[in-house]
Amino acid sequence: MQKKELLYEGKAKKVYKTEDPEVYIVSYKDDATAFNGLKKGTIVGKGVVNNQMSNFMFRLLEKQGIPTHYVEELDERETAVKRVDIVPLEVIVRNKAAGSLSKRLGLAEGTQMKTTVLEFSYKNDDLGDPMVNDYHILAMGLATREEIDQIASMSLKINDLMIEFFRSVNVDLIDFKLEFGKTSDGAIILADEISPDTCRFWDVNTGEKLDKDRFRRDMGGVEEAYAEMMKRLGL
Ligand code: TMP
Repeated sequence: MQKKELLYEGKAKKVYKTEDPEVYIVSYKDDATAFNGLKKGTIVGKGVVNNQMSNFMFRLLEKQGIPTHYVEELDERETAVKRVDIVPLEVIVRNKAAGSLSKRLGLAEGTQMKTTVLEFSYKNDDLGDPMVNDYHILAMGLATREEIDQIASMSLKINDLMIEFFRSVNVDLIDFKLEFGKTSDGAIILADEISPDTCRFWDVNTGEKLDKDRFRRDMGGVEEAYAEMMKRLGL
């Protein structure tokens, strides 16, 4: 598998075409941003962690019947993935209150939600990824009713599988963000990444944050937190 032309460079990843029109190569960078790019920095080794952890999670989810874009890990930073059209939604799944939910609803961080909270944001950096509901999604044609329902049920199943897995390595899965893509035959599959950039991970015993909040909030120990998550996954 060979990298051809650069198709897209995002804040944390580059995407390349390959000789196979149905396969792209994702290359994970160490660049870190927060607050829609307002805060910029580097987390040394992050690209390696996010690549290997995402692939680990995609393989785990695939085994449990969740279709993903994962094809093959090529090296420590690069992975072959299926070409998809990304559904322009960020799907946020929340088990405990934290971050923007805590701010918006005045809930102390760590408050257990009675039921899982699912939120959608419209993927648009110029607008700061505004939250949208089903009506907005349908009215703007971002996804169909069937696609929203499928994305919601896949996200809840992924949450159940991820809660159970992370619990087994002493990590409390507070919340996370998913993105889905559509394949050339119209199937909805899990895409993007699952990493400390896109999830909140708290140590079960100490509550210590093992994710990108350490960077967002200038807490220090950022690289160490990413390395600790790798260790817990046995990577
Ligand atoms: P939030 O509390 O800031 O809305 O974040 C919820 C979850 O989504 C958290 O695990 C971090 C993740 N997230 C992303 O992956 N990308 C983003 O751009 C944002 C805002 C959050």
